[in-house]
Amino acid sequence: MQADKNRTVYLKDYRPTDFIIETVDLVFDLGETMTTVGSQIRMRRRPGADPSAPLIFDGDGLALSGLALDGKPLLPERYDSNANRLTIRDLPEDGAFTLTIKTRINPTANSQLLGLYRTNGIYSTQCEAEGFRRITYFYDRPDVLAVYTVTIIADEKTCPLLLSNGNLVEEQRLDDGRHMARWHDPFPKPSYLFALVAGDLSMIEDRFKTMSGRDVTLRIYVEHGKAGRAGYAMDSLKRAMKWDEERFGREYDLDIFMIVAVSDFNMGAMENKGLNIFNDRLILADPETATDDDYARIEAVVAHEYFHNWTGNRITCRDWFQLSLKEGLTVYREHEFSADERSRPVVRVEEVKFLRAHQFPEDGGPLAHPVRPTEYVEIDNFYTTTVYEKGSEVSRMIATLLGPEGFRKGLDLFFERHDGGAVTIEDYLTCFEEATGHDLTHFALWYHQAGTPVISVDSAYDEEKAELRLTLGQKTPATPGQRIKKPLHIPLRVGLIGPNGDDMEASAISGGAHRKDVLELTQDEQTFVFEGIGARPAISVNRDFSAPVRVRFDQSREDRLRIAGAETDLVARWDTVNALALEALVRAAENVKAGQPVTVDAGLSAVLVATAEDETLEPAFRALALALPSELDIGREIGANVDPDAIHTARKTVIRAIAETGCETFVRLATGMDTLSAFSPDAASAGRRALANAALALAAAAENTPARASRAYQAADNMTDMLAAMRVLAHQFAGSDEAEDALSDFRRRFAGEPLVLDKWFSTLATVPGGQTLERVASLMGDTAFDETNPNRVRALIGAFASSNPTGFNRPDGAAYDFFADFILTSDRRNATLTARLMTAMRSFEALEPQRRALARKAIERIAGHDDLSRNLRDIVDRMLK
Ligand code: PHE
Ligand code: ZN
Repeated sequence: MQADKNRTVYLKDYRPTDFIIETVDLVFDLGETMTTVGSQIRMRRRPGADPSAPLIFDGDGLALSGLALDGKPLLPERYDSNANRLTIRDLPEDGAFTLTIKTRINPTANSQLLGLYRTNGIYSTQCEAEGFRRITYFYDRPDVLAVYTVTIIADEKTCPLLLSNGNLVEEQRLDDGRHMARWHDPFPKPSYLFALVAGDLSMIEDRFKTMSGRDVTLRIYVEHGKAGRAGYAMDSLKRAMKWDEERFGREYDLDIFMIVAVSDFNMGAMENKGLNIFNDRLILADPETATDDDYARIEAVVAHEYFHNWTGNRITCRDWFQLSLKEGLTVYREHEFSADERSRPVVRVEEVKFLRAHQFPEDGGPLAHPVRPTEYVEIDNFYTTTVYEKGSEVSRMIATLLGPEGFRKGLDLFFERHDGGAVTIEDYLTCFEEATGHDLTHFALWYHQAGTPVISVDSAYDEEKAELRLTLGQKTPATPGQRIKKPLHIPLRVGLIGPNGDDMEASAISGGAHRKDVLELTQDEQTFVFEGIGARPAISVNRDFSAPVRVRFDQSREDRLRIAGAETDLVARWDTVNALALEALVRAAENVKAGQPVTVDAGLSAVLVATAEDETLEPAFRALALALPSELDIGREIGANVDPDAIHTARKTVIRAIAETGCETFVRLATGMDTLSAFSPDAASAGRRALANAALALAAAAENTPARASRAYQAADNMTDMLAAMRVLAHQFAGSDEAEDALSDFRRRFAGEPLVLDKWFSTLATVPGGQTLERVASLMGDTAFDETNPNRVRALIGAFASSNPTGFNRPDGAAYDFFADFILTSDRRNATLTARLMTAMRSFEALEPQRRALARKAIERIAGHDDLSRNLRDIVDRMLK
């Protein structure tokens, strides 16, 4: 990870390789500390390439132990090699040859979890984005597609299972207690989709019949003893396969599809062809150990990785600048799947919350970058919410502009034209243009311009003319390296709500293009005129969150209350309720800071209580309304000179007041959970639990005693309810006997369940207040904590740094120092993980001056070390710029 320390890679420098790889034959002889990798590569010179050009392969920390060309060992004067590069000169005239490369690697020493690594007795690989070069020298880039045959040799006792991509073609027992398996993947693929797994695991198996009648074997591999927890992932997989056939006409293409769950994994999951590798927290679930949120995540990620088989694998990226081509589109497909499987508006609200909590701050901070960046220092640092979630929003906007049929037509053309290709975002957009006749030239700016647009709204109603004039403005704030911003092509879905709460329909709309109720904003400012509007409507802007923008609309309170009570678009309705609460919380924080009393107006409490009680709304939606904006949400809304302690006090006071007003309702809803029958993870049941648990937090706040939550903890018969009750105890009644009892009971009960203990670590790490630092520091010594395991690190250190505003931002800066120390040690072990962890501090400039200065000092201390990984160096340098 130290290679070419300060290289910057530019999109404009893209050029194809001089040579084409046809086939790759890999032979792995697996040994714990010494694995040899033999690679036989059939190549030819690309037509038109310079015949004198050398062959230059990537490597990363490799040791070369053999090199031959067409079977003959290569003389030293024909090549140069170091750990990070292999250069071969004077290649055969006719340009066709076979290269044989031998490397030696140590999977046990691989703490980066990139390349081939061995943890817990399991060998597994992670090659995206540039991990294959840690296995052997290669063209480790996504536009080099080859057909792979993989032979794995290993000890039969410790590694009865030998897996790679594609189909198993041969198995053999060898004499010395070892055995071998050979896999062949007929689909040409880039190196980042290569995978190998070896070890001893349990498995569950199922089958799926595809739309054309082919039988596919489905297997999920998990640690021994955990097979009973893989059922929901399997069920999700089958539903995802069916959905992709029905919704997008996409059929699976191999005879077998495998998923392996591993416990040490840097990210969520990986779409390797035919052999997905997952972080086990995104596979394993049963009612006793997984929450409803876990179930929903598992369903979504299993689907996401499966959907990559077409969007990512069959059609891949030309270069890593195009990452959103596969990730943005696949997230969009995943979101649509969740919406179809669950409640569409609830799923959408959750997406909006996520975008605002993660992508907007990224887009508004020092790490902002376009969905398609033009340069990077370390590609690992670009697996961001901008590339993923904003990229998804951009595809969603295309669907909004073109309509569902237009979107499907464009995507069909994309699959037909580019199957087997490594393509660009332009190629993607061209398909929609050609399939529908729409011009997306202006729209394409969404990929290239960073920053979250701010939409201003102004309205004027003329009763005599029955006319509404809506003036929309847009402005995108400057971002690093992009000072001047142009207006974007923004689809804004707008609703007009009449005095009786009904939707009003305009007889005509002028002032710009529109598709039904979707206005197309293309200029800095535009006035749309709605005719035939008989009464002054309440205007609902950005229904269904049709565009990833902020809206500034100085709307009357009556209009907002009308929307909060009657809007049929539930996303906009939630948004208004949430905005009213957020405003009250911001005002309260200002009051606390100014030493003034906090007051909560009755209107807000009334809206929340009414929403909670409204039986026409689904429970999951009511739960969302009751989950008031978090301290982090409030801090982001304030945006500058943020004082986390004032926010904490304000929020507590406001919640207490609301809870007291609606106490009876919340108590009733909270006790509703006792009457729920046997656990089922479906969305409706999960929604009922979510409502009961949101109500529990409020009822407990009103009663101001831990008794109710303590009873709920003891009565809980599933992890969702148990964790919810424990969090109420730990966060609202920190230090009480009830809280400590529940926490130690939980620790004892799940002593052998690392994934469950992650919930315990996170709960403790997010207890508000300055004393949590000491607790976190001592938890690092807990026998269940393991600083080499990414899930443990994220659960404890990650949760503390990113989700505990009062604890992490202790006024004395001690938590920043603690974090900086951790970062510096962790960086040597696992650079990818550490750089991601570091982004928790990206918004430090928004803090009040004293904390801001202390935070800066801690970041500068990290930056002052000259032996940082490229990953961490890139992040801290951009943060300090
Ligand atoms: N490509 C994976 C996904 O989003 C994410 C990932 C990236 C995993 C890099 C590991 C390493 O589906
Ligand atoms: Zn993905």
